[in-house]
Amino acid sequence: MMLSQRTQTIQPPGTSRMRTIANEMKARGIEVINFAAGELDVDTFELIKEGARGAIASGKNTYTPTLGLPALRQQVSRVVSRHTGLDYSMEEVGLTAGAKQALYNAAMVLLDPGDEVIIPSPYWVTFPTQVELAQGRPVFVDTRPSKYQLLASDVEKAIGPKTRAIIINSPNNPTGVVYDASELERIAALAIKHGLWIIFDECYASLVRAGHRHAHILTSHPELKARAILVNSFSKSHALTGWRLGYVAAPAPVIKAMANLQGHTTSNPSAVAQYAISHALDRDDGQFIATVNRALDERLERALAIIADMPDITAAPAQGAFYLFLDVSAYLGKRLGDRTIDDVDVFCELALDQAHIALVSGAAFGDPSSVRLSYAIGDNDVMEGLGRLRELLRRLN
Ligand SMILES: Cc1ncc(COP(=O)(O)O)c(C=O)c1O
Repeated sequence: MMLSQRTQTIQPPGTSRMRTIANEMKARGIEVINFAAGELDVDTFELIKEGARGAIASGKNTYTPTLGLPALRQQVSRVVSRHTGLDYSMEEVGLTAGAKQALYNAAMVLLDPGDEVIIPSPYWVTFPTQVELAQGRPVFVDTRPSKYQLLASDVEKAIGPKTRAIIINSPNNPTGVVYDASELERIAALAIKHGLWIIFDECYASLVRAGHRHAHILTSHPELKARAILVNSFSKSHALTGWRLGYVAAPAPVIKAMANLQGHTTSNPSAVAQYAISHALDRDDGQFIATVNRALDERLERALAIIADMPDITAAPAQGAFYLFLDVSAYLGKRLGDRTIDDVDVFCELALDQAHIALVSGAAFGDPSSVRLSYAIGDNDVMEGLGRLRELLRRLN
């Protein structure tokens, strides 16, 4: 069947492959521990459900304006203003079907064919694909030599005449690293100097481990607001991945262009989800996310103790989100029986069929030396799964 050339560049996200296989194994009765999840393991909170029930009971079934209910846009603009310390109006924000759509909108309204977009690597799988769909060209900056921190000096080297934007994701998926305020400050200065857009994906901003702080790209350079596209989501902060609600904050003309695009693609994000969030936003006392963070802090500490006992495995600094990113390169080339671990994909396959643990291969994130594990999967599963991984590593030679 002949499909468009565009389809040739789109592969299914590498993150979902392992999840699918793990679920199939589970359905066959195998006790798989699924470290491949990209979402919290807790239910959302009562205020959200109350808001959704209210919306359904009162028949809120119709379309809303494309970029969301005016009242919700007002609320979100207040959230963004508080968060950035800058003044955002409702014309400068829009609701989207998850952060994914906000990012897609950004690529589509900013990029012309051949425009380059700087993407720190390892990267969340969707960034380069969306840039390519918009006929842009991803230019990767390797963060591995700087312990996964994004250095302004490396960004500067990647800037060329065709550079249009830089995508920054902090706290980072897949590494769990929170970018340094001082580096963000220098990158903001570079963006201003070279007239670049910053796409700032802060979907994990509220998920930061004890002792760390999420730094904002606009703090040091408020004037960058004119060139910043802030992307956020309720998926991770409110345990609502399936409801598909995210948002974008950007200069009003950008938001208007996104409204035109979104009006011809999906129109408004789910009305019930919008009413539910609107109900919860002004009433939320912050207890939900505080409890989630406390549980993740404790779990991470116990997880790191087991990882410390795995010879030749190094973990990226786990400062935010809920991911552990382990460098397994010391094990590539080793053997288990007659199987050689040729690459990190084989490592993950072996982990799945020998230890029944589903990991995501770093190759999906542009890093063929590492694997990603989510520790948002329940205390017992994390400990049991890491125990199995440690045991598997001992068997490799
Ligand atoms: C860095 C990053 N950005 C965006 C998203 C998309 O989130 P949403 O569910 O809001 O579309 C994800 C989801 O995993 C993510 O990790």
